[in-house]
Amino acid sequence: MFTTEIGKDLQKARHLLEQGELVAIPTETVYGLAANALDVHAVAKIYEAKNRPQFNPLIIHVADIEQLKSCVEEIPTDCIRLIQAFSPGPLTYLLKKKSIIPDITTAGSKYVAVRIPQHPLTLALLAQLNFPLAAPSANPSGYVSPVTAQHVLDGLHGKIPYILDGGNATVGLESTIVGFKDGEVVVHRLGGLSIEAIEDVLGKSVKLSITHDAPDTPGQLKSHYSTRKKLIVGDVEQLLKQYGDNKIGIISFQRSYNTNHPQMILSSKGDMAEAASRLFSVMREMDEMNIETILAELVPNEGIGKAINDRLMRASF
Ligand code: TXA
Ligand code: MG
Repeated sequence: MFTTEIGKDLQKARHLLEQGELVAIPTETVYGLAANALDVHAVAKIYEAKNRPQFNPLIIHVADIEQLKSCVEEIPTDCIRLIQAFSPGPLTYLLKKKSIIPDITTAGSKYVAVRIPQHPLTLALLAQLNFPLAAPSANPSGYVSPVTAQHVLDGLHGKIPYILDGGNATVGLESTIVGFKDGEVVVHRLGGLSIEAIEDVLGKSVKLSITHDAPDTPGQLKSHYSTRKKLIVGDVEQLLKQYGDNKIGIISFQRSYNTNHPQMILSSKGDMAEAASRLFSVMREMDEMNIETILAELVPNEGIGKAINDRLMRASF
């Protein structure tokens, strides 16, 4: 057991990580639960603290392209273009790993998922460390990802010594994951960077390979991102007729519904980035309300709206 502390002390975070301990770190997407990616004992603590299945590999975080090169065998041309356009940022690259990356970090895979996060505190921390950080989202396995230091504390209190507080995650959705196969760019997880933005830079279409039943990216299990309350996705007007007598709460994109049930709007001005940045906080707040069921509507299925809808659908299974 630890007394979990929240603070902005970079040196404290650095020392703990150098000693093989866990530190939750802020990123622009969601908070990560970090450990030295090269230290098998430190990485094992991540799986334990999150109660994460050992078959689910971790994303590693690096300071810059030089450090990225020290972790992977080769970087395809398409990947270099994406790095130039979007890193640091909410894009993760699946690349053949070098042997310094231990098997436990990649759950036995020859590929490692790696990204350069866009957050000043975490970039400063990474620059001071001489190892990359393995960091999955800093929530107990299966629950909604944390976008504030308090969310991390709510889920991992007593299990980790320190949370580096970098304020609210600005993007609010996990990174988009891309791989490279036979000259094609393959999207493995929808996330904070839109497919359209990726295709614009590449000047070609990407392939979608988003599995819900595990094999390639085991973290894509259906139960991922679930609220504790039952969440139903659909036409809220219709659902209200069916569930109107129950204790319900409503999550909507832009409009409010004519009802006395509690409701939360993702973005009253219909701004997709704002909706994304609020989604996980809103889901967590609904979980704390005195309701039994959450009714949610999908957002327009374009840009990062696709990732928002993906998270809502997963939470509803
Ligand atoms: O934005 C993000 O990506 C956040 C922040 C902290 O960086 N991290 C995050 O990590 O969302 P996590 O562990 O919650 O999700 C990582 C996903 C999982 O679906 C995992 O299965 C997949 O990436 N993944 C990681 N390494 C992989 C690998 N070597 N091969 C295939 N999938 C991998
Ligand atoms: Mg996660």
